Amino acid sequence: MTEGKVWLNGALVDFADAKIHVLTHALHYATGVFEGIRCYKTVSGSAIFRLQDHMQRLLDSGRVYFMDLGFTRQQLEQAAIDTVKANGMDECYIRPIAYYGYGKMGVNPMPNKVSVAIAVWKWDEYIKGGGEEKGARLMVSSWARLDPRTLPMHAKATANYANSALARVEALKAGFDEAIMLNTSGMVVEASAENVFVVKDGALATPPTSSGALSGVTRDSIMKIARANGIACEERNISRDELYVADEVFLTGTAAEVKPVGEIDNRTIGRDGGRPGRITKQLKSLFEEAAHGKDGKFKGWLTPVN
Ligand SMILES: Cc1ncc(COP(=O)(O)O)c(C=O)c1O
Repeated sequence: MTEGKVWLNGALVDFADAKIHVLTHALHYATGVFEGIRCYKTVSGSAIFRLQDHMQRLLDSGRVYFMDLGFTRQQLEQAAIDTVKANGMDECYIRPIAYYGYGKMGVNPMPNKVSVAIAVWKWDEYIKGGGEEKGARLMVSSWARLDPRTLPMHAKATANYANSALARVEALKAGFDEAIMLNTSGMVVEASAENVFVVKDGALATPPTSSGALSGVTRDSIMKIARANGIACEERNISRDELYVADEVFLTGTAAEVKPVGEIDNRTIGRDGGRPGRITKQLKSLFEEAAHGKDGKFKGWLTPVN
C-alpha cells in the first residue's frame, strides 16, 4: 500500500505526505491509542461495521491516557467515512490512531500535541492458517498477558502491543498461526489481537474483561448474535486445560473476524479432527450475515458510506 489518501488532523492528505517526526513521543514511549474497524460490502452498498462503538472506544482509550483528541465522536465517524470514500474502496480495514506528537521529549506526554490520523487498506486474511478443513493452530504463549495493574487493558493502546508482538512472533517462529495468552494468574485472556471463545455442551464462554481481555467489538457482536439465536453465553474465567477439552474454540476480532481453532499446544480441538465445529460455523455465518446487512435485527450496526 503506497497510494491513496490518509485523513490527518482534519484533512485528507496524500499517502506520501502522511508522515511523522522521528521525535514523535508515541514512537519513543508508546503513547498512542488506536482502533481497527471494517467496512463491508452489504446488500445496500458499503457500510462500516459498528462505527460508533469503535470511535467511542477510541475516545475512551484516549481518556485513560489524558488525551484530548480534539474531535467529537461524530466528527471522527465522518472522517472515517470520508477516508473510505476518498480511497474508493467498497471493502476495507480502517485504522484510526491518536498519538502524542513531537514537542518535548521525556516520559511525560502531556506537553506534546495530540494528532489523529485515519488510514484504510485491504486486509483480507489476518490469520493465515485455518480453513474449512482444519481450524487455526495455536500455542499458549510463554509471555503472560499484561496485567491490568500494569497497563489499563480497557484502553486499546499502542503500548499493549509490544506484549502482543512478542507472543505472536514466538508463535509464528514455532510454526503456529497465533498465540493464546494467559494472565499472571494463569487464566486464559485472549490471543495476541483477538478475543477467545470456547464452546462446551452447546454453550459459549469467554474470559471476562477483568481478566485483562480487551472489550472486543466482535466479541460483543458474537455474544449478542448467540443470545439472539438461543445460544447461552457467559463471561467467566477459563483455564488453560479447559481449552484442550473444549468441544470448539474460536477467536474473534475485527481483523481476524471469526476464526475457528483446530489445535492448541498440539492437541486437536473437538472430536472431528480439528474441523470447525457446528456452533462456530453457525456463529461465523450469522456474523457474516450481520456484517453484510443480511440480518435485519442487526442493521443498526451498519453505517452506510454513501
Ligand atoms: C488484544 C486484542 N484483543 C481483542 C481484539 C478484538 O477486538 P475487536 O473485536 O474490537 O476488534 C483485538 C483487536 O482489536 C485486540 O487487539
